[in-house]
Amino acid sequence: MQKIVILTGAGISAESGLGTFRAEGGLWAQHRIEDVATPEGFARDPKLVVDFYNARRAQAAEAAPNAGHIALAELEEAFSGEVVVITQNVDDLHEKAGSRKVMHMHGALKSALCAACDHRWPAPLAMAPGDTCPACQAPTARPDIVWFGEMPYDMDEIFDHLAGADVFASIGTSGNVYPAAGFVAEARRSGAHTVEFNLEPSLVGSQFDDIRIGPASQTLPLWVSELLKG
Ligand code: APR
Repeated sequence: MQKIVILTGAGISAESGLGTFRAEGGLWAQHRIEDVATPEGFARDPKLVVDFYNARRAQAAEAAPNAGHIALAELEEAFSGEVVVITQNVDDLHEKAGSRKVMHMHGALKSALCAACDHRWPAPLAMAPGDTCPACQAPTARPDIVWFGEMPYDMDEIFDHLAGADVFASIGTSGNVYPAAGFVAEARRSGAHTVEFNLEPSLVGSQFDDIRIGPASQTLPLWVSELLKG
C-alpha cells in the first residue's frame, strides 16, 4: 500500500466545537445558503457575507484540533507511503494538528481573495466590505471561500490523487455536495479500498467497502493504529 487519500468534511471538526452545516440547528438552519454562500448573495449584501465569515474565522481561530485531526497527522508522519488530506473545511484544524499535505478544495478562512485580479493574501481576523487588494488596489477583497456555483480548487490535482489511491477514506461529510460526494466512485474505479467514517451512513454510504460508525475522535485513532500495524 503506497497512497492514502482522505476526504474530510465538517463532521471532523464538530468535536472541536465548530458547527456542521446540515445538522438540526446547523449553519444552514441559521443562515440561508443563497444569502451567505453564493456570489449573488455577496453582490447583494457584502457586509452580511463578510460578517458571517468573520464570525466563523474568529471561532476557528479559537478552536483546537481533536483526536481525529491528530490521528491523521500522525498517520502522515508515520506512514511509509503518501498521505493526502483533501478537505472541504475552511478551518485550519488539520494544519494545527500537524498535517502537511492538505488541500482546501472549498477555500480557507485564513485567506482573502481579490475578485478582480485573483491575488490571495492572509485575511485579517475581521475583513470589511470594500477592503482593498494589496496587489491591484481595487476595493474588491472577498473571503477566499468557494461558494455555491463556483468551481472548487485544485480539481485536476485531486483527481490525479484519487486515480492513484490505494485507500480512500471519507470522514464526517454528508455526501450532499459534489464534486466531493463523487470522489468515492472515482477512487473505486481506480481500485482503491474505500472506507467511510460518520455518525451514520452518508448519502453515498452504499458505495464504500467499509463503514465505521462513531465520532471521528474515537474511530480515527483506531483506524490509524490498524493501518500503521500493517
Ligand atoms: N464524527 C464523524 N462524523 C460526524 C461527526 C463526528 N463527531 N459529527 C457529525 N458528523 C457527520 C454528520 O453525520 C454529517 O454526515 O458529519 C457530516 C456533516 O455534514 P454536513 O454538515 O453536510 O457538512 P459537509 O458534508 O462537510 O458539507 C459539505 O457543504 O455547505 C457546504 O461548502 C460547505 O464544505 C461544505 C459542504
